[in-house]
Amino acid sequence: MKPEVQPNKIVVLSGSGVSAESGLPTFRDSGGLWRTFSWQEVASPEGWKLRPESVLAFYNERRLLAWQARPNAAHTAIASLEAAYEVVVITQNVDELHERAGSSKVIHVHGELAYARGTSETPKRYRIDGNPISMGQLCEDGTQLRPDIVWFGEEMRFFEEARMHVATAARVLVVGTSLSVYPAASLVKAARGRAKKVLVAFEVNKPPYGFTFMRGKATEIVPALATTWLKEAAQPAG
Ligand code: APR
Repeated sequence: MKPEVQPNKIVVLSGSGVSAESGLPTFRDSGGLWRTFSWQEVASPEGWKLRPESVLAFYNERRLLAWQARPNAAHTAIASLEAAYEVVVITQNVDELHERAGSSKVIHVHGELAYARGTSETPKRYRIDGNPISMGQLCEDGTQLRPDIVWFGEEMRFFEEARMHVATAARVLVVGTSLSVYPAASLVKAARGRAKKVLVAFEVNKPPYGFTFMRGKATEIVPALATTWLKEAAQPAG
């Protein structure tokens, strides 16, 4: 039994492209992080075991950049939709730009730069804002602190909750993600046939079935789309 679609619900599935125009790098575009760094070295449990100081340095730099960045017109437009809709943002991003733009329901499936956690089985989590983590900085349980980020090979967070939100949305906006990383990318499959489905990016491996692909800048396309959707909400039903 599929859950009921909620006519007033929008789900946004965002990736690094939505923060690109805030000056934060993407991963697979030209100039993307995985063009400069090896994810095996700086974003995997194996890399952490081999050279934790390189991993800490990589995330310290990204954290500072993200802390100094400001939301752009795409983040703001997504937040503005809350005036007329229930909006759930499911983001692969580890920055806080959706929250800073005013989005009130943001689910981070790949973790958050603003937090550190211990490395035990039951780690404690600490908010560190834009501050660095250094070797020897320990959790209360005595283990070394690490970025509270989901590395390759680690389990994505909130998958079931995210899937339920997509499955009950009447509108699904996918913005700034190449849909290369699973299982996050598989969330688009939960979108319902009757939902309005839009994908905004410069290019994407394969537009998911049923999605209208709008090629272009998030800061141009998303505000225009939000204006249209807000107008639709203002029209009398029927
Ligand atoms: N406006 C709209 N789309 C953009 C913009 C922009 N200004 N700039 C880039 N894009 C699009 C690109 O066309 C591409 O489709 O954003 C997407 C970025 O794709 P990736 O670099 O693969 O980033 P993302 O999809 O977020 O990566 C997913 O991979 O490494 C892991 O955990 C990491 O969460 C990340 C995941």
